Amino acid sequence: MIRKILMAAAAVLTFSSVSFAAGAHDGLVCTGCHDIHYAKDSFIFAVAANKVATSPSTKKNYSGVTALCLGCHADAEHGGMGIKPISQHTTHPFGTPPNPKVARVPRALLRDSKMDCVSCHDPHPSNPNYRYLRTDTKGGSEMQYFCAMCHPAKADASVSNQAMKTLKVFTSMDESKGPTTSTVGELTSAPDAGPAETAPAAAPAAAPKK
Ligand code: HEC
Ligand code: HEC
Ligand code: HEC
Ligand code: HEC
Repeated sequence: MIRKILMAAAAVLTFSSVSFAAGAHDGLVCTGCHDIHYAKDSFIFAVAANKVATSPSTKKNYSGVTALCLGCHADAEHGGMGIKPISQHTTHPFGTPPNPKVARVPRALLRDSKMDCVSCHDPHPSNPNYRYLRTDTKGGSEMQYFCAMCHPAKADASVSNQAMKTLKVFTSMDESKGPTTSTVGELTSAPDAGPAETAPAAAPAAAPKK
């Protein structure tokens, strides 16, 4: 009897650690980020866009998906919920169109022609990669391939070659294909910047600006 209880407890412990390892966004289920009938923003987002945090380069508020992520991932002082808050000043740049001298970003990874959180992350629970990154970095130990995807001139030739030709870039954004991977070459030659830009729900944010 006691043995049975212990075994059941062990099973619960193992199960909960397994489900934790599956990914931090699993606990949000879908409706932590998407609100079916009472949404606050585009992509029927459950969390209102962050209108407090400002980009250090443009001095303006963020827009699009970046502002949605920052609804949770900024500290309260910067308009977020303090969940793993991202620093606004000592951070890798996002929220601006990429300077082609600094990076070569595959078009399909841009949103509204800008570098966005989802240029580097795909936040859906189907993404098996460390920190929901677009590529498998082997738990962060092979980050150079990920960086070389957009900064190939900085990496060792063998690394940038691999990043351009065989590295798999994860995307959950095409239901006709399912969760899938493409190479950087395939993403770069894609005719459009991916489904998000043309999705009706995103229309206000993604309207072509001139
Ligand atoms: C952490 C927040 C988060 C969670 C959790 C989440 N989503 Fe999303 N979802 C997003 C974001 C952000 C986008 C826009 C992504 C982009 O532009 O690449 C999106 C986009 C979508 C879209 C629109 C795709 C399109 O082509 O316009 C669908 C459908 C969707 N999510 C379904 C789901 C379902 C189903 C779940 C649960 C299994 C889920 N999401 C969980 C953040 C989330
Ligand atoms: C509804 C709030 C919410 C939104 C919106 C949200 N997240 Fe999260 N995110 C969470 C929570 C909760 C965690 C887990 C925090 C923890 O473990 O302490 C998390 C964790 C993460 C992690 C760390 C994963 C890990 O392996 O530890 C990443 C990366 C991340 N989020 C990226 C994003 C990106 C990119 C977006 C926008 C596309 C986003 N999140 C939108 C709530 C959110
Ligand atoms: C240039 C690519 C890039 C962009 C853009 C980017 N991230 Fe990340 N992010 C990363 C990498 C790489 C890591 C993992 C760092 C590590 O664990 O070594 C990470 C980690 C995280 C984490 C986990 C932090 C922790 O302490 O565990 C969160 C949350 C997160 N990012 C959210 C975001 C949000 C929200 C945005 C947009 C506002 C964003 N990221 C934009 C590359 C990026
Ligand atoms: C999805 C594309 C992408 C990925 C992946 C990426 N970067 Fe960048 N990076 C950019 C863009 C775009 C800029 C320039 C933004 C601008 O100024 O226009 C940039 C700028 C930088 C800068 C200059 C920052 C400054 O303030 O001048 C550094 C350093 C950098 N990235 C390092 C990295 C490292 C290290 C990694 C991997 C952990 C990485 N990047 C991954 C797109 C990317």
